[in-house]
Amino acid sequence: MYTQAMSVGPQDAAAAENTELMATFDARIDAGEFIEAKDWMPEHYRKTLVRQISQHAHSEIVGMLPEGNWITRAPTLKRKAILLAKVQDEAGHGLYLYSAAETLGTSRDQMLAALHSGKAKYSSIFNYPTTSWADVGVIGWLVDGAAIMNQVPLCRCSYAPYARAMVRVCREESFHQRQGYESLLTLMREGTAAQKAMVQDAVDRWWWPSLMMFGPPDDASPNSEQSIRWGIKRITNDQLRQKFVDATVPQAEILGVTLPDPLLKWNAGRESYDFGPIDWNEFWRVVNGEGPLNRERLGTRVKAWNDGAWVRDAALAHARKQAAKKEAAKKEAA
Ligand SMILES: [Fe+2]
Ligand SMILES: [Fe+2]
Repeated sequence: MYTQAMSVGPQDAAAAENTELMATFDARIDAGEFIEAKDWMPEHYRKTLVRQISQHAHSEIVGMLPEGNWITRAPTLKRKAILLAKVQDEAGHGLYLYSAAETLGTSRDQMLAALHSGKAKYSSIFNYPTTSWADVGVIGWLVDGAAIMNQVPLCRCSYAPYARAMVRVCREESFHQRQGYESLLTLMREGTAAQKAMVQDAVDRWWWPSLMMFGPPDDASPNSEQSIRWGIKRITNDQLRQKFVDATVPQAEILGVTLPDPLLKWNAGRESYDFGPIDWNEFWRVVNGEGPLNRERLGTRVKAWNDGAWVRDAALAHARKQAAKKEAAKKEAA
């Protein structure tokens, strides 16, 4: 007869240790504790976070492109300064987030290679064109507004380096949303009929893609449940989308624009707005690379990376020279 001891090989011992580690990890998550980079975590948790944080970082970096197009064409010095600051903030968000993802053991080079090869995703909203100045205001109002809805719960994400990065990012997003809304208010209150029409046209084009930013509906979002279980995600896609609609409709009224949805209506029973169906075919088309500007956005990123090669080479050469000098000085002193 086999005894228990005879069947415990090194593999079983490792599995037993793993089960114990897993139980401790689950208990910490249940207690609402934060997980730090040095702590043990299941591989699936690590992979989920690397995917989510790197996608988030890529979105910040690619997100600079649609608005960056308008920096040289901003109508006043004040608007130019605000837009420059905003686009620079997005670069900063990208860098924080790459750093947070690096704490999970993936290098920045690996993440950027995945972006440049088209393997990694970023938020599909940035594959739409910015055809007028009003788009810059509407992106601040709706796109940064949706980003805030998504990101505020991430300040309590169970992975501490991500949560910490999000606290600062959210403060800056709030400025982005306000500057966009204020710019639209100015156009709607002081602008010509043509400028008001330009705002309405931008709202018509960005409304539905903004609602898609919350991701597929809950019943088509298979990873959501696990992410909520692990405290990575706190609120579901559909709940966040509803919160966004409820917050945005009154803002549209103050602005004096119409949201392009004939089914949008206050539901007194739910104390929320009902809204029309989202075109999920369009969503998946853009996610899968067939949006209006997917190729152009990626092409611009790759070109920027290639054009910047000399800066990276020079920085590395300088670092090597400094290290060699230090080494030589140490030898001389010895
Ligand atoms: Fe951002
Ligand atoms: Fe932003």
